[in-house]
Amino acid sequence: MTLFQATGLQKRFGSRVVLENITLGIEEGTVHGIMGPNGAGKTTCFHLLTGHHAPDAGSIVFAGQDIAGLPPHRIARLGVARSFQIMNLFDDTVVIENVMLALPAFKAQTGRIFGNGFADRRLIDSALEVLDMVGLAGSAWSKTKSLSYGDRRALEIAVALAAEPRIVFLDEPTSGLGVEATRALAALIRRLRTRFTICLIEHDMRFLFGLADRISVIHWGQVITEGTPAELMANKWVARSSLKEAV
Ligand SMILES: Nc1ncnc2c1ncn2[C@@H]1O[C@H](COP(=O)(O)OP(=O)(O)OP(=O)(O)O)[C@@H](O)[C@H]1O
Ligand SMILES: [Mg+2]
Repeated sequence: MTLFQATGLQKRFGSRVVLENITLGIEEGTVHGIMGPNGAGKTTCFHLLTGHHAPDAGSIVFAGQDIAGLPPHRIARLGVARSFQIMNLFDDTVVIENVMLALPAFKAQTGRIFGNGFADRRLIDSALEVLDMVGLAGSAWSKTKSLSYGDRRALEIAVALAAEPRIVFLDEPTSGLGVEATRALAALIRRLRTRFTICLIEHDMRFLFGLADRISVIHWGQVITEGTPAELMANKWVARSSLKEAV
């Protein structure tokens, strides 16, 4: 089943057309990759899909509902989570607090962002469960700023998962990671794929081709080709690019 379908998306900033015509379908329960050169419009595409920018034209249907132009919090509440290209964590808190602040039960209970969640054992348990999914339960009470770079990435994913989404958008999750941390992240995404639909932008081709069920290539504001990793490897455009050597 197609969980997420964007059709004919267009976005311009002033006179500059960044996305001309993006059509993208994401099947439920898959890992969908997005690749393309720097400045191709990948992050802008994520901004449209998650409501951070409204498209100038086109439709975005999530689980049968047209969500184009809805504000980010409405889209998030429907079950769409994302991480940002730049990390977005509360450094001076303990690790678990980042996750607690993102739990729907926490937000509903306090009605504001900073409440006293530590008074509620159920919230702590829910947050621990999410941390466990990403392998960070053992660091729950450590200072956020003491985490390694790779663990910060995993925590960022945990924050996205805390909202109990159906689909998670990850923008370049391997950026800045070394070989070991990249491998650990691939293992994490493989574990998560059984529970969530995942869409990720990646420059690391080896990582992406090893994980994705399908990949869309964005260039010149359009999806210029789309397919399974094997199909893309056989694609003429891909064969002519530097991609093949990278994989
Ligand atoms: N708010 C904005 N106002 C004006 N131009 C913008 C804005 N956001 C993005 N752009 C431009 O749109 C183009 C696409 O940017 P975007 O960040 O989506 O690319 P990207 O594919 O994610 O690149 P990268 O691989 O470097 O992350 C760039 O030329 C960028 O300068
Ligand atoms: Mg980007």
